[in-house]
Amino acid sequence: MAEQATDRIIVTGGAGYIGAHVAVELLASGRSILIVDNFANSSPIAIDRIREIAGDDVDVRVLALDLADDANREKLIEAAIDFGANGAVHLAGLKAVGESVAAPLRYYETNIRTTFNLVRALEAAGARTLVFSSSATVYGDANQSPVNEAGRLSPTNPYGRTKFFIEEMLRDVASADAHWRICNLRYFNPVGAHPSGRIGEDPKGPPNNLFPYIAQVAVGRREKLSIFGDDYPTPDGTGVRDYIHVVDLARGHVAALQYLLTREEKGALDVNLGAGRGHSVLEAVAAFRRASNRDIPTQIVARRPGDIAEIYADAGRAADLFGWKTEKSLHDMCTDHWRWQRENPSGYVED
Ligand code: NAD
Ligand code: WQD
Repeated sequence: MAEQATDRIIVTGGAGYIGAHVAVELLASGRSILIVDNFANSSPIAIDRIREIAGDDVDVRVLALDLADDANREKLIEAAIDFGANGAVHLAGLKAVGESVAAPLRYYETNIRTTFNLVRALEAAGARTLVFSSSATVYGDANQSPVNEAGRLSPTNPYGRTKFFIEEMLRDVASADAHWRICNLRYFNPVGAHPSGRIGEDPKGPPNNLFPYIAQVAVGRREKLSIFGDDYPTPDGTGVRDYIHVVDLARGHVAALQYLLTREEKGALDVNLGAGRGHSVLEAVAAFRRASNRDIPTQIVARRPGDIAEIYADAGRAADLFGWKTEKSLHDMCTDHWRWQRENPSGYVED
């Protein structure tokens, strides 16, 4: 479609795990992108890999900038106008739950300021279309699964509260100025990697999340996986989550953006991005063993404070509004995550 070819989208956090996959899918859909990232939790090598996957005929620009620094707002406005942006996907931010409990102000400052500066820049550039990386963490432990978007919002840690406050801020922005089209995407548990094996998650230090931990055990970097509790009221006693392949997730952003850019109606909406079904920790480990053909030693330890037994999405709204649903299986998630881990055992390193 002609209008797709001319979309010019800012991707904040575009060098990060999810952002790099979003960048690839936006380029594949014919859009031009401007990645804005300060590489606080990512590598410039990811940008080379995005270009490599996307091929020669794409328009990828990069602005290395701390979006949380108010002094950079003018630079961002200039870049947005110069680029001719007509929308943005906002992924930049900090995301470690434990760290947010220890350093809440750093989380509030970074996550809220980055959003504030971006929204101001989009306003100045006349590009009032925004897809925001929210999280299923905004639901906390207050709902029965499957959770739909009308579920009670009750985040249980500072990281989750930054997402909740930003959602609220964006809802206010959209109701005050009818030119805005905003979508808060509530991701469930993104895992896996691009099937090329060239981009994937590259955690600094010991991983907090299940899949990167399993992958590091499989590749021999860590001795064994600790399973946080086997006495939950779930079928096998371990925690149940809605794992979503990062490529499906990235395509969900393209679908959301397409919807925002073409719909008549303005305003803000909230949409879950999940598969709509749950898998337990033991199922994930078994699937990873099959995909990697490696032994993955485990031990059962105490529950992790703050964890809930089970959460998975009602993914109906994304299907109804965007015509989007996940296509990849748990096996695909493990196979692709494993390929990335095996081929990049130390993360992003120059070829
Ligand atoms: P990530 O850390 O890999 O990516 C975030 C990117 O933002 C990084 O490239 C980082 O360098 C950049 N960044 C951080 N602070 C910045 C700043 N001040 N200025 C400019 N750039 C900055 O994380 P991810 O897993 O790709 O997550 C992307 C987004 O999705 C985040 O907002 C996260 O909260 C949200 N999210 C992630 C998950 C998940 O499980 N990974 C789940 C739900 C929501
Ligand atoms: C999954 C399951 C653990 C590690 C977190 C954030 C959330 C969101 C995604 C951004 C649980 C179990 C884990 C391990 C284990 N991020 N587990 N051993 O907790 O659902 O969500 O990441 O928005 O905000 O809270 O994901 O991958 O950490 O855990 O047994 O070493 O694996 O108990 O049942 P979680 P996770």
